[in-house]
Amino acid sequence: MENISILGLQWGDEGKGKIVDYFAKDYRTIVRFQGGPNAGHTVYVNNKKYTFHQLPSGLLWGNKRAIIGSGVVINLELLKKEIEQLSDINFELLIDYRANIILPYHILEDEYEEKLDGIGSTKKGISQAYRDKYARVGVRVFDILDEKRLRRALERSYKFNSVLVYGYKEKMIDFDEVYEYLLNFRKFLKEHSADVQYEIMNQKEGIIFEGAQGTLLDINFGTYPFVTSSHTIVSSIGINLGIPMSMVNKNIGVFKAYTTRVGKGPFPTELNDEIGDYLRNVGNEYGSTTGRPRRCGWLDLVLLKYAVFLNDIHELVLTKLDVLFGLKEINVCVAYEYNGRILDFPILYNLESVKPVYKKFKGFDNFKGASEFISFIESYLNRKIKYVSYGLNRDEITIF
Ligand code: IMP
Repeated sequence: MENISILGLQWGDEGKGKIVDYFAKDYRTIVRFQGGPNAGHTVYVNNKKYTFHQLPSGLLWGNKRAIIGSGVVINLELLKKEIEQLSDINFELLIDYRANIILPYHILEDEYEEKLDGIGSTKKGISQAYRDKYARVGVRVFDILDEKRLRRALERSYKFNSVLVYGYKEKMIDFDEVYEYLLNFRKFLKEHSADVQYEIMNQKEGIIFEGAQGTLLDINFGTYPFVTSSHTIVSSIGINLGIPMSMVNKNIGVFKAYTTRVGKGPFPTELNDEIGDYLRNVGNEYGSTTGRPRRCGWLDLVLLKYAVFLNDIHELVLTKLDVLFGLKEINVCVAYEYNGRILDFPILYNLESVKPVYKKFKGFDNFKGASEFISFIESYLNRKIKYVSYGLNRDEITIF
């Protein structure tokens, strides 16, 4: 069975949860390889809503193997709560020894930093936990398994973070409090931690690699600094799980029929008008982690083509097509105007300076009516849209 990746091609919130759930029917193992509880992957089963933040989506079928890789930053308290909420679902959970932990002071720092000059983060302490990781002072899952090792690791992180918190003229959380907090999870981690790289190397069955956030939030190739702090693109699978990319056989890219983003940052096709409000209301575009209203705009094919290239996408999934039903006219961005020139490549380091060039489509209110819109996207991207998802429920997906 082939291993597949399922990745978001926009600024996140493309509807990956539902798509992962759909494919997970035929797979036992689903792996999260980056991000943390900033993600919110929503799945509806029998009209009941489930939101996955740190666990991979797709567990609702039962008897799955959920894997959290080294590139994920973990909030242990929230993870345990998420597991409790799934108490009637049976699944195995493996967390990599190398995964870094989001510490209570990371969350406070995220608050302070957002107040000072933030980018509109989810305030989950994500960039702060990755900062510790890259500053080589992070606390990892493996550290928590041993009291002495934990104390030493936490001392490093604590010193480094104290400088920051004092810099904000705020009070640092007591060391022993954080130490005890982490020790509380030792039993849980003894049961669930593993060498995930080894497990995946030796896995004989197919795997789903589930991306979180979206391509344009990638720390290198997104709209920096308005990005998340991990790599959200396909190559992240290799780096963060310690496996060769040849182990990923097919890349499935998920995109919405329009564009949204949460937080600050450039967004060329943004609609600050009644059509933007319409997309937000009909598409229920409110953050599944923070509840924030999402910024909405037209589909941007320039960005999408870039995402298809960057992720080596083989097949496309179009989501929320039905949200466009009923609009009189639909625009799709096919190029940018920049300094008097027409570009078909996004200059992501200077995206605020471009003006979208649109192709107009007559509105449609059913699939048949959307066929010109869909064919145009396919020919622009030179990829097939194999699945179209509409509505909330599991079975509301059409295969082409
Ligand atoms: P952080 O990841 O919380 O640091 O937030 C950085 C940026 O990424 C902010 O603009 C967030 O709104 C955005 N972001 C983070 N996670 C997600 C997600 O799962 N969906 C959409 N946007 C996200």
